[in-house]
Amino acid sequence: MFETLTREADDPLLALTPLFKADPNPAKVDLGVGVYRDDLGRTPVFRAVKRAEALLLETQETKAYVGPEGDLAFIEAFWNFVAGEGRDAAGVQTVGGTGALRLAAELLRRSGSSRIFLGTPTWSNHSAIFQAAGLSVVTYPLFDVASQNLLAGEMMSTLADRAQPGDAVLLHASCHNPTGAVMDDATWAAVTEMILRKGLVPLLDSAYQGFGTGIESDAAPLRRLLDQVPETIVAASASKSFGLYRERTGAVYATSPSPATRDKLKSHLVTVGRGSYSMPPDHGAAVVRTILTDPELREDWRTELDEARQRITAMRAILAEGLSPLSPALAAIATQQGMFSLLPLDERRIIELRQRSGIYMPLSGRINIAGLNSGQAPGVIAALRAHAARG
Ligand SMILES: Cc1ncc(COP(=O)(O)O)c(C=O)c1O
Repeated sequence: MFETLTREADDPLLALTPLFKADPNPAKVDLGVGVYRDDLGRTPVFRAVKRAEALLLETQETKAYVGPEGDLAFIEAFWNFVAGEGRDAAGVQTVGGTGALRLAAELLRRSGSSRIFLGTPTWSNHSAIFQAAGLSVVTYPLFDVASQNLLAGEMMSTLADRAQPGDAVLLHASCHNPTGAVMDDATWAAVTEMILRKGLVPLLDSAYQGFGTGIESDAAPLRRLLDQVPETIVAASASKSFGLYRERTGAVYATSPSPATRDKLKSHLVTVGRGSYSMPPDHGAAVVRTILTDPELREDWRTELDEARQRITAMRAILAEGLSPLSPALAAIATQQGMFSLLPLDERRIIELRQRSGIYMPLSGRINIAGLNSGQAPGVIAALRAHAARG
């Protein structure tokens, strides 16, 4: 029976890592994989995470199951981190932000939603997650690579013309992956108004809080939307903001003004999780809970996250200055936010950059700004300019 299977394609982003590893070029640069790197090219464990882990090692008394909804104190503290204090939601701990998106999609389907609107380009896994849960994905162009402009008009006209009551709309809460494009306050207000007018459900994907302009300011648009739209879903990841990638830590939250509805929402989220993996893992959530509820650890974590963001901002400024002679539109790299920007390069040039200069990025042209350090930046800029000059 298994012989009838056809092979699935490898994820092109994950396939980049072995290619990079196999390249003997000593000056090679990995701008592909989506993790934060410091100026020495490491993805360090946050100091506060190490200290929280030491505390947990000393104090943890059992490995008994955490319960189907996960660590309750984590769910609350993480919600306060994302949504601020004083907002009610039905929350469940998930297997990373990906698990949160999957549970969100299942909840949408169980609530009678059958479609989700997705601006493209977007995180390469979004469509797969929503389709796996049985939602149809409707895409619309959200970013023009050549001009580096966010296509807010396309988003508004697509939603106006095609969205039906009960449809879901995916919004990146901050630090858009893969474009870094910033949705301004007027566009957030317009899309919020559209969601209310047409009876749509926003699904906010929050995976990079703290990497844009700050922990609080990155969450401000999401929080304003929560204040105005009664029924929302938030899928939140701790992978980047706490550097816990492999611990698979996240949570999904659904809001409703009615406590009885929130109770029903939670029961559905728990049921979907129970039928998929029974219970979430403990460790990452216990670390985040420990950090967020200890003022000293929290302060230290915040300092380190601030430093990571400042490093990315500094790299953005250097790249923008170095690349804007190629195209004035690339000056936007300086004001885009988060780890990623999308370069207007065709596949031929991207492969040439790998082969001749050891610069690795996926064929989409997405670069992880945090993959670059100050020592490598001049060489990467020079190579990009040289390849462009070659035509
Ligand atoms: C936009 C976006 N959402 C969600 C995720 C999922 O994160 P996690 O690793 O926590 O599953 C990612 C990861 O890259 C992402 O870029």
